[in-house]
Amino acid sequence: MARDFTSVGVVGLGTMGAGIVEVFARNGVDVVAVEVSEDALERGRAILTGSTDRAVAKGKLAEADRDALLSRVRFAVGLDALHAVDLVIEAVPEHLDLKQRIFAELDRVCKPEAILATNTSSLSVTEISVATSRPNQVIGIHFFNPAPVMKLVEVVRTVVTSTDVVADVEALCKRLGKVDVTISDRAGFIANALLFGYLNHAVGMFEAHYATREDIDAAMKLGCGLPMGPLALMDLIGLDTAYEILDTMYRRGGRDRRHAPVPLIKQMVTAGLLGRKSGRGFYTYERPGSPVVVPDEQTPAATEAALADGDRALAKVGVVGSGTMATGIIEVFAKAGYEVVSVTRGAEKSARVFEAVKTSLNKGVVRGKLSEADRDAALGRINWSATLDHLADVDLVVEAVVEELSVKKALFASLDEICKPGVVLATTTSSLPVIDVAMATQRPADVVGLHFFNPAPLMPLVEIVETIRTSAETTATARAVCAALGKTGVVCGDRSGFIVNALLFPYLNDAVKMLEASYSTADDIDHAMKLGCGYPMGPFELLDVVGLDVSLAIQRELYLELREPGFAPAPLLEHLVTAGYLGRKSGRGFRDHTRR
Ligand SMILES: NC(=O)c1ccc[n+]([C@@H]2O[C@H](COP(=O)([O-])OP(=O)(O)OC[C@H]3O[C@@H](n4cnc5c(N)ncnc54)[C@H](O)[C@@H]3O)[C@@H](O)[C@H]2O)c1
Repeated sequence: MARDFTSVGVVGLGTMGAGIVEVFARNGVDVVAVEVSEDALERGRAILTGSTDRAVAKGKLAEADRDALLSRVRFAVGLDALHAVDLVIEAVPEHLDLKQRIFAELDRVCKPEAILATNTSSLSVTEISVATSRPNQVIGIHFFNPAPVMKLVEVVRTVVTSTDVVADVEALCKRLGKVDVTISDRAGFIANALLFGYLNHAVGMFEAHYATREDIDAAMKLGCGLPMGPLALMDLIGLDTAYEILDTMYRRGGRDRRHAPVPLIKQMVTAGLLGRKSGRGFYTYERPGSPVVVPDEQTPAATEAALADGDRALAKVGVVGSGTMATGIIEVFAKAGYEVVSVTRGAEKSARVFEAVKTSLNKGVVRGKLSEADRDAALGRINWSATLDHLADVDLVVEAVVEELSVKKALFASLDEICKPGVVLATTTSSLPVIDVAMATQRPADVVGLHFFNPAPLMPLVEIVETIRTSAETTATARAVCAALGKTGVVCGDRSGFIVNALLFPYLNDAVKMLEASYSTADDIDHAMKLGCGYPMGPFELLDVVGLDVSLAIQRELYLELREPGFAPAPLLEHLVTAGYLGRKSGRGFRDHTRR
């Protein structure tokens, strides 16, 4: 018969433990919540009441339900209070010796049939289990932060965990309204194994002054639709916890350098900058435990709105190219009130671009987002040309021609001859070094990357790529232009993948490697990232949309530039591309799209 969990114990009421208490108590389970001292107990109680009070204030929980929830929780110092519970979940700091000590004591205190679970993110559940005399009743139940919100639970079974224990815990997760994926005991399980390399890389970018914290976070939120940027997420996780997870993953997970914690993390932990829980991490918070960010010395002075007002000197913009990106960019500038000169390689191409822009603007009219008069005005602002000479009097040129360095260099050399002095020359390249393009001109200080995302009229992000020769004035103009377009411009250095692709594609590649190693299925990995980390799409869904060939090309570029062994393209990705499985566009990628 399946176990009936009527009371559970939670050990450690920090970031995770307090949330786990809430999950159980909300679902009618009695909880014994245990801490190491009275002070810590009070802090844990405050996290729980703070969270439930917020839920009441937001109308998500009735006052009576909150009171009932809180009445189900008994607080105690010391593990002895757990003698009668059916299940214990341990959520103390990520140290193996501490966890082993606690499990040995739990083994002594708890009734023989009780299940002992750890919420560890990266330590070996097997090593924890052998500290007890009942390793077959030890299991990992890995909740995600914040536990009351995130739907995923990773259930980690070791080689000795009994199958009935696994089944009972899976049933319990369903009762709690969670979606579980059951996996074996490997460092980082699914989600953290894919997440932490990315987080560490983002901290590395910040440490190297590659981009500001605001720009790194905005890039991943707006470029990938993530619920929060990587540095804000590090603050939520807690830098001490993140450090331990990375360190363990590095040691247990094959010494992949990408998991070796970036030195800044340790420095911040030593300095007490632990993230939200201590009131300060990458950002500064109103008070310890508060999610509200307050300005500090790193907060940028100028707001986007001020920038938008700041530079309206640019009136006329040239856009070179006739593909998807050029078409979208022409529309974006024309809609924002700029006079646009579109240069294509002939009247036929111009006619096609015109039709595409018109169709797109018409969609806005049908949806009630644009008036007919505004559509006509936008179309009227575009001048169509087949010769670069018409760019002689523009204030900004945006190049969006084929992604081939020789073509772009030749074009920039021509622009250098034709355009008036002081004009900003921008390339939309997503993979070529901007400096190569800049050096094809006599005015590299005026050259910048403006990396729009597809579809340009919808995507709110533009990466502004500075080379080592770009002048501060050019960057400021690029920022002002992005703001005037209603886009968020993030400034970064001229490195392969800029911010978004450099952080996104290695993660996708890691997911392919995980699948290839048969650790989990594509469905479970997609689930884990969506339900555990709030990603809008799982990695395999996204790879099929982006195209496996495109993804492989980007990953190869990153690998070639950084020579990071962990960036080597997954063999499975190469094989699928060779086999013509390119994703949605070819009908088959990681999934078969012809049968849907
Ligand atoms: N932070 C996250 O986002 C996250 C997500 C999933 C899992 N985890 C895992 O959850 C566990 C807890 O992490 P956290 O971020 O909540 O840590 P935390 O530092 O916020 O909280 C740990 C709590 O454990 C208490 N504690 C320490 N020793 C104890 C003892 N002997 N007895 C009882 N309580 C004790 C501390 O007082 C503290 O309140 C770790 O294994 C971590 O890897 C963390």
